[in-house]
Amino acid sequence: MDRILILGASRGLGAELVKQICAAGYPAVGFGRKQPQLARLREEWPLFEYQLADFAATAGQNLVLSSVLAENFSKIFYVAGGGPFGLYSQREWKDHQWAWEVTFQFPARLLHVLANAKSESQVTMVGSAVAESSPDPLAASYSAAKHALLGLVHSLRAERPEWDLRLFSPGYMDTELLPKNAAVRQLGVFSPSDMARDLWLWSLRADDIGHKVYPRHPS
Ligand SMILES: NC(=O)c1ccc[n+]([C@@H]2O[C@H](COP(=O)([O-])OP(=O)(O)OC[C@H]3O[C@@H](n4cnc5c(N)ncnc54)[C@H](OP(=O)(O)O)[C@@H]3O)[C@@H](O)[C@H]2O)c1
Repeated sequence: MDRILILGASRGLGAELVKQICAAGYPAVGFGRKQPQLARLREEWPLFEYQLADFAATAGQNLVLSSVLAENFSKIFYVAGGGPFGLYSQREWKDHQWAWEVTFQFPARLLHVLANAKSESQVTMVGSAVAESSPDPLAASYSAAKHALLGLVHSLRAERPEWDLRLFSPGYMDTELLPKNAAVRQLGVFSPSDMARDLWLWSLRADDIGHKVYPRHPS
C-alpha cells in the first residue's frame, strides 16, 4: 500500500491526522522538528515513521524534497504553518521571514518540484479560514503567507486541472498555535481531532472545487 506523507506531523492538526491515517490502516511518514513528540506517535502507531527536518532551513527542505522524489506517496498533506504574534513593526524581520518560509515559500517550492515531476500524488495544503482572505491583525506576516498560498493553489488548479491539489482551511483550533489566553477562544474553537477526521475523510472523496473552508468558530 502506498504511504502517505504528513509535513508538520508532531503536534496539533498534523499529529491528529497521523492518528486518523494509521487508524484507517494506512502507513504514514511524518516530518517535523520535535523528536520526542514524533517518537511518542511512533510508539503508539507502528504504521507511522518519521524523520526530523526544519522546513525553514535549506537542509530540511532538501531532505523532504528528496524523499518526495524518491517515493510515490499517494497523498501529501502540508500542515505546517505559523508566524509571530504582535505588531508587524515590533517583531524582528527574521520572525517574518520564518513565517513566510514555513507557511508559504517551502510549500510553494514543494509544489514546484511536484509539478515538474508531473506528480500524481493528491496534495492538500492547509490554509486558514481566519487569515487567508481577510486581515488578521497582529499576525500580518502569517496572513500574508496564507493569502499567497490561497492564490498559488487556485492558480495551479487552473493551470493543471487534472491534478488533485486541494486547500483545507480550518477556523480557530485548540492547538499550541493559538495562545491559551487568546480572546477568540471565548467564541469557541474547533477540536483538532475533529478537523483531522474531516480532512482525512475529505481526502478520500472526489472534490471538484478543491477548497474546503470552515467558519472561524464552531456554530
Ligand atoms: N490553530 C489554529 O487556530 C489554526 C487556524 C487556522 C489554520 N491553522 C493552520 O493549521 C495548520 C496546523 O496548525 P496547528 O494549529 O496544528 O499548529 P501547531 O500546533 O503549531 O503545529 C504545527 C506543526 O507544524 C510543524 N512545524 C512548524 N514549523 C516547522 C518547521 N520550521 N519545520 C518543520 N515543521 C514545522 C510543527 O512541528 P515541530 O514543532 O515538531 O517542528 C507542528 O507539527 C497550520 O497550517 C495553521 O496555519 C491553524
